[in-house]
Amino acid sequence: MSEDLHLINASKEEQYLSLLPQIEGLIAGEVDLTANLANVCAALKAQFNFFWVGFYLVKGDELVLGPFQGPVACTRIAKGRGVCGQAWQQKQVILVPDVDAFPGHIACSSLSKSEVVIPLFGANDEVKAVLDVDSDRLNDFDEIDVTYLSKLCSLLSVN
Ligand code: SME
Repeated sequence: MSEDLHLINASKEEQYLSLLPQIEGLIAGEVDLTANLANVCAALKAQFNFFWVGFYLVKGDELVLGPFQGPVACTRIAKGRGVCGQAWQQKQVILVPDVDAFPGHIACSSLSKSEVVIPLFGANDEVKAVLDVDSDRLNDFDEIDVTYLSKLCSLLSVN
C-alpha cells in the first residue's frame, strides 16, 4: 500500500473511531428505533457526506424504506431482490464496487455507482433491517467501511 493510500485510510478509520462513541452516546438515552435510525443517518451523512445513507426495515416479505439521508429512494424491495434483498436473504454484508456489475442491482438513482449493505440482526439471529450506503463514485467502500459500519449496526437494538 502506498504511503498516500495508507494516510487516506488511516484518516477514514480515525473518523469512524471518533464517530462511533458519539453515536453510542446519541442512541443511549433513546429507546425509539425510528428516532435512533434517523439520527444515525444524519450523523453518517454529516461525517462522510455519503451520497445516500439509510435503513430498510423488514416488514413481512419485503424491505420497506426507513429513515435515510439523500435523494428519494425506492420504497419496497422484495427478499432476494437487489443488493439489499440479497444481503437480507444471505444474512451477509455485501460490498459492491460497481453496481452495474451486480446482477439485479436496483438503481434508485442512476448516479449511484458503488454501495455497501449491512444486515441488522434481532435477538433470534433474524435480519430485522439493513443499512444501505451508496456512493456516486466507483469502488468507494472497503473493509474499513465494512468493519465500522458493522460495529455501528451491532449497537442498534432492532427488536
Ligand atoms: N441499490 C439498492 C436499492 C436501494 S437504493 O440504492 C437506496 C439495491 O440494489 O438493493
